[in-house]
Amino acid sequence: MGLNLDYSDGQTPLDEEEKEGLLIPSVANKGELDEFEQQNIEEAIQWILGRSLKAETIFSERFVKSLHERMYGEIWKWAGQFRKSDKNLGIDKWQIPVALKTLLEDALFWVQNETYEADEIAIRFKHRIVNVHCFSNGNGRHSRLMADIIVEKLYKRSVFSWGAANLSKESRIREIYLRAVKEADKGNYQLLIDFARS
Ligand SMILES: Nc1ncnc2c1ncn2[C@@H]1O[C@H](COP(=O)(O)OP(=O)(O)O)[C@@H](O)[C@H]1O
Ligand SMILES: [Mg+2]
Repeated sequence: MGLNLDYSDGQTPLDEEEKEGLLIPSVANKGELDEFEQQNIEEAIQWILGRSLKAETIFSERFVKSLHERMYGEIWKWAGQFRKSDKNLGIDKWQIPVALKTLLEDALFWVQNETYEADEIAIRFKHRIVNVHCFSNGNGRHSRLMADIIVEKLYKRSVFSWGAANLSKESRIREIYLRAVKEADKGNYQLLIDFARS
């Protein structure tokens, strides 16, 4: 076999941003990091599982932050805290609290007034909160878990299947997902709703 310059996914080194605030110094590469994060996320799901939650609770800054903290608190020092730097994705860091507040108020209104059906409310919320990009990392997974919580806790529906794939990794299914996200950017949510139930 010749020299393999192509890192397999499990060996992708962490970039500077990913190393910052890492609470487990032994993590050497992206594959290991993904596994630690996944374990932590499963604990967050356990925390959520038996609880009944009202719309007023779910759509609060406190809940949005504590869910992120529960998902990543064992891995990242900054889990559950709004990001302190600007990204290529998301709005200016100073606008996060107000943009999130607006979104939380809108979502509560949609639920109380049945503006859209359940899946559409969850997916619209998911899409908008990712575009706020509240945290330094983990926003995609956090937004999908928020959507799952909305349909399960508020509508007693089953959680989304999200293409039945790990969307954090490069894959054909992730490409389909990102195409649906871009359609949603233009105000067309149907592809993303269909994807979430596929
Ligand atoms: N053009 C894009 N490329 C990559 N991710 C995008 C794009 N547009 C929106 N996103 C969203 O941003 C998320 C990535 O943000 P990130 O904070 O790294 O989340 P995570 O670490 O959970 O993947 C994606 O899951 C996706 O929902
Ligand atoms: Mg990420």
